[in-house]
Amino acid sequence: MTEQSGASGLFPQEGDADGKAPPCAMVLFGGAGDLTKRLVVPALYNLAVEKRLSDNFQLVGVDLVSKSSQEWRDGLAGSIKEFVGAEGEYEINKFDEAAWNWLTQRMSYVQGDLNDPETYRSLGAHLAGLDRNCGTRGNYLFYLAIADRFFCSTVAHLGEASLTKEEGDCWRRVVIEKPFGHDLASAKHLNSEVLKSLAEHQVYRIDHFLGKETVQNIMVLRFANGLFEPLWNRDHIDHVQITAAETVGVERRGKFYEITGAMRDMVPNHIFQLLAMTAMEPPISFDADAVRAKKTEVLEAIRPFDEISALKDVVRGQYGAGSVLGAPVQAYRHEPDVAYDSNTETYFACKLMIDNWRWSGVPFYLRTGKHLTRRTTEIAVRFHQAPFTLFRGTDVEKMNPNWMVLRIQPDEGISLEFAAKQPGPTVKLSTVSMDFAYKTYFKMQHGTGYETLLYDCMTGDATLFKREDNVLSGWRTVQPILDAWEKNKPADFPNYASGGSGPAAADELLARDGRYWRPLV
Ligand code: BG6
Repeated sequence: MTEQSGASGLFPQEGDADGKAPPCAMVLFGGAGDLTKRLVVPALYNLAVEKRLSDNFQLVGVDLVSKSSQEWRDGLAGSIKEFVGAEGEYEINKFDEAAWNWLTQRMSYVQGDLNDPETYRSLGAHLAGLDRNCGTRGNYLFYLAIADRFFCSTVAHLGEASLTKEEGDCWRRVVIEKPFGHDLASAKHLNSEVLKSLAEHQVYRIDHFLGKETVQNIMVLRFANGLFEPLWNRDHIDHVQITAAETVGVERRGKFYEITGAMRDMVPNHIFQLLAMTAMEPPISFDADAVRAKKTEVLEAIRPFDEISALKDVVRGQYGAGSVLGAPVQAYRHEPDVAYDSNTETYFACKLMIDNWRWSGVPFYLRTGKHLTRRTTEIAVRFHQAPFTLFRGTDVEKMNPNWMVLRIQPDEGISLEFAAKQPGPTVKLSTVSMDFAYKTYFKMQHGTGYETLLYDCMTGDATLFKREDNVLSGWRTVQPILDAWEKNKPADFPNYASGGSGPAAADELLARDGRYWRPLV
């Protein structure tokens, strides 16, 4: 692992010695869409800046909109430039004209309807031409940056056009974006449809959380250090809190969010990946299947919810009006494309137990929500209180427990909180923190988070992608909650003010166990 620390991918496999991905043609379905513009092409541009793409790389956009290759390239150039120095979530350092030109020389556009077999025939002919003239060697990476209702049919069409067939040394891979199903049944259906045209090793189910450096670092923290792993169990850990708090609301995504809600949007995918990384057993190697098997194992050990526990141990919330980061904001029910009496949750919290040897009796509390007071994603591990107080006259209640906090974003880093004696003649305890901040040790790269993931697809490293069983075990866990919610509509929505820390019921969930959430402020 140390040898590989300089590469973009966590565990590169097929790349050249110089860290370049192998030759391939990447086909972007939804080439004129938002995801292409906001994330995928900026990530490819960043890979081009870092010289991670093969000289024999080609990018083919496919979409219904009629435009020439030149128009496609020009439109995307405009969007890339908007990211330069942007203060938003994603930014790029400076516009590198040479890298962009390098990329645009390799970009072409094919107009076509996803439902029309003719599109796939002309795409096949176009790709064969790239193989002949540009050395892409029959390696194709199909990226489905399209609405999920087209996933099955697009993959089926690719299969019918023989574009998914791997012959000789060439590879054919398909990247599928979330949502991977809306519940257990639809996820199973999608999987079985996709696997009619592809083998499991050809399917790359993307979860952008796994592209975050700090998420990848969870495995390094746990398995590359002798210090922490011996403490990482029920003997030393009291409980774990996983938080993904956002200040953004649903913005312009009302249509999508109304039928999705906070749980489907964040929990079986992003939050469960954080949970799996935190709680999994050590894999026997960093081979993709070894890692993914351990992740599935721990997700399958989550104690199943039933209707009673789904209502008792899970909290849902919806934001009302309030003020976020100093600006007044409206209630969810007044957002565009949202029903005035919507029951969609914008906040989710739960307590779950993992029934295995390591975690027996250790609650995991998860929470995520929109329009909260602060944007923060973190995993906080709370160690047991010292068994008794030696410090006579020092109130034990005032002795704070030890916390290890893995800050995923923003302000990426890790801190360890412990007690120290305040200077002075009497023993007074204070909580202090040993802090590792990424930015003080490493030059943090500005990126979209998709760079590593795209590079890994090209090099054939599926470690950071979800296998069929990972996806299904996520849905299997939340399905009883979906069922219980379907039967029992919320009576109190909206139940938290925008800019706050969520519904009171979420605090009660922990208070019941004599615990409290780490404050969001
Ligand atoms: C997306 C969800 O998958 O993840 C969004 O659809 C959410 O609703 C986003 O805001 C959070 O990702 P990040 O990287 O901004 O924390």
